[in-house]
Amino acid sequence: MLPLHNNINAFKMKRTKIADLLAEEKHGYEVVVKGWVRTFRSNRFIAINDGSTINNIQAVVDFDNTDEALLKRVTTGACVSVTGELVESLGKGQKYEIQVSAIEVLGDADAEKYPLQPKKHSLEFLREIAHLRPRTNTISAIMRIRHNVTYAIHKYFNDNGFYYINTPIITGSDAEGAGEMFTVTNFDLNNIPKDENGAINYKDDFFGKQTNLTVSGQLEAELAAMALGQVYTFGPTFRAENSNTTRHLAEFWMIEPEVAFADLDENMDLAESFLKYVIKHVLDNCQDDLAFLEARLLDEEKSKPQAERSEMKLTEKLQFVLDNNFVRLSYTEAIEILKRSKPNQKKKFQYLIDGWGADLQSEHERFLVEKHFKCPVILFDYPKEIKAFYMRQNDDGKTVRAMDVLFPGIGEIIGGSQREERLDVLKEKMKDFNIPEEEMWWYMDTRRFGTAPHSGFGLGLERLVLFVTGMGNIRDVIPFPRTPDNAEF
Ligand code: 4AD
Ligand code: MG
Repeated sequence: MLPLHNNINAFKMKRTKIADLLAEEKHGYEVVVKGWVRTFRSNRFIAINDGSTINNIQAVVDFDNTDEALLKRVTTGACVSVTGELVESLGKGQKYEIQVSAIEVLGDADAEKYPLQPKKHSLEFLREIAHLRPRTNTISAIMRIRHNVTYAIHKYFNDNGFYYINTPIITGSDAEGAGEMFTVTNFDLNNIPKDENGAINYKDDFFGKQTNLTVSGQLEAELAAMALGQVYTFGPTFRAENSNTTRHLAEFWMIEPEVAFADLDENMDLAESFLKYVIKHVLDNCQDDLAFLEARLLDEEKSKPQAERSEMKLTEKLQFVLDNNFVRLSYTEAIEILKRSKPNQKKKFQYLIDGWGADLQSEHERFLVEKHFKCPVILFDYPKEIKAFYMRQNDDGKTVRAMDVLFPGIGEIIGGSQREERLDVLKEKMKDFNIPEEEMWWYMDTRRFGTAPHSGFGLGLERLVLFVTGMGNIRDVIPFPRTPDNAEF
């Protein structure tokens, strides 16, 4: 037999993970478990968690035969290694426990100073200790689900013949044209080179031009799709929009598929099939974590007035998305519905809809999804003025082949479009949007050489994780959130 380290399919350690122990059919043998102490009760029962599952394992110590000074160090937050026999547990809700024969404290945690005590902490407080919060049930459940979402995304695209493309993080272009970019420079900020007119001399900067952190990998993904056919990017994106909401981050992860020869209908089909696949993967593979988050939500709901309580449990909501077709509706039809809607008539919307052309706010999107259709909605064919320059113009001259996927509790989860593949139309659009041709020569080249209809979209990873975990604030579904005035850790 090959030594273990030569077996490329195996990574096995001497300690056993709690998830693996709890899945074991046999017991009555010695195990080693390493993890962090959640509680130590009655000088006898240590609840240990090692992150492999939401479930703790109970380690039972024989107080009379254990060094007392050592047991004093077994406090909430300490890291321990326990050795002992795996036995059936008499306690309710747990299959096995460990009869401890040896215990070692790998890392003490000063009980006076350790901020995570075994009680309910607010999510706001946990954000201040984001370096420790993965040790809570809530955040660790979210992080395991986030991992599963990410895995399912790569699997979906791989199994459907897409290639993963890494697009640049430092770029000279503003894909969305929204101007919400973070500058990348190595200028001495106290001595920025300027020309005789006082303008910054970007020629002297590191890249010899003005550069920023990317807001989207789309434009480069389009280039790749025009060679490889079906591609996707999955990387960090950065937006300096000063919106302090529960849905916005300054640094978030975006998944952007781009498909040659696909029109907008196929783009909508892809988005719907993709979202359903990922949600199903989570339902099938994250049952313990979902059950915990569902119970947590039910508990939270109890403190809300009846009218604000959700009609569905978390897993019911996820199943509902799988079982129903998304409603597909043109922007024009949506405006008609919104104009006639109660909150618009009664002036309850913050932004009233008075006619065609208005940009939809999240209150409007959520009305359509949560109150009117009670179902995910894909809106398409938006006015060209409120969407990006690269979207394909419709024959009416007024609208573009844009689509937004709207989800309950979230609003926009996906934004995408069929792309303008006609060079002459694209040139006109760039003129309208004041985008200099010389900066986009490479993008236009794909329209010059072998252009083809193509489509794609962008999914905000954190918005999807918000949805599948039922959490209310995007800061709680990314390990270290970056938002205005906050870049700690
Ligand atoms: O609608 P957006 O701006 O679309 C694009 O960037 C296109 N280039 C995508 C494409 O067609 N390839 O952003 C796409 C998605 C949004 O629907 C939303 O889910 C998420 O990215 N998103 C954010 N998520 C968190 N924080 C922010 N500040 C976000 N801005 C957008
Ligand atoms: Mg958008």
